[in-house]
Amino acid sequence: MTRLGILISGRGSNFQAIHQAIERGELAAEIACVISNVPDAAGLGYAQTYGLPAHALDSKGIKRADFDTRLIGILHDAKVDLVCLAGYMRLLSPHFIQAFAGRILNIHPSLLPAFPGLDAQSQAFAARVKTTGCTVHFVDEGLDTGPVIAQAQVPVLPADTVESLSARILQQEHLLYPRALAMAIAALPKS
Ligand code: GRF
Repeated sequence: MTRLGILISGRGSNFQAIHQAIERGELAAEIACVISNVPDAAGLGYAQTYGLPAHALDSKGIKRADFDTRLIGILHDAKVDLVCLAGYMRLLSPHFIQAFAGRILNIHPSLLPAFPGLDAQSQAFAARVKTTGCTVHFVDEGLDTGPVIAQAQVPVLPADTVESLSARILQQEHLLYPRALAMAIAALPKS
């Protein structure tokens, strides 16, 4: 069974969607650990409710390289095969990316390469595009630049606000992440 390490910083709704897909038997994986760099992240409460191994590791005031070394230690101890970034709001050091080369996934709320970086939904809204969406991609050392695994389109409706658009994108994220994860798992070398 593929072991997932999930990194969050907040709400954790994508983490929940992954967990629920596993529970429904739609994703052959197990959550080996959940780590939040924000100690009071709501997603940690969900992990606790479902008895998933969770770690709160406050990144405040810790140098990125040192923090990432601690992250790598926890993920290795948990024998993680794939790392899933799910609203993890901290850049990863090259050291971390090399430690899990080709085995880190991220979800981003736009059709990459359009609108990388923060506030992707607001960027799309301001650009008045007719269609935006979400992307699951492998993580490389750039900002939201790694190879795309899967995307879902979401129309921007005339009556949309940034909030209504973000909510519709999020619904698609919850469907897309488990699906893209299943594709990434199927492509993993058999051990
Ligand atoms: C999502 O919109 C995701 O695309 C972005 O951060 C948000 C995280 O939401 N990377 P959640 O914590 O999974 O609810």
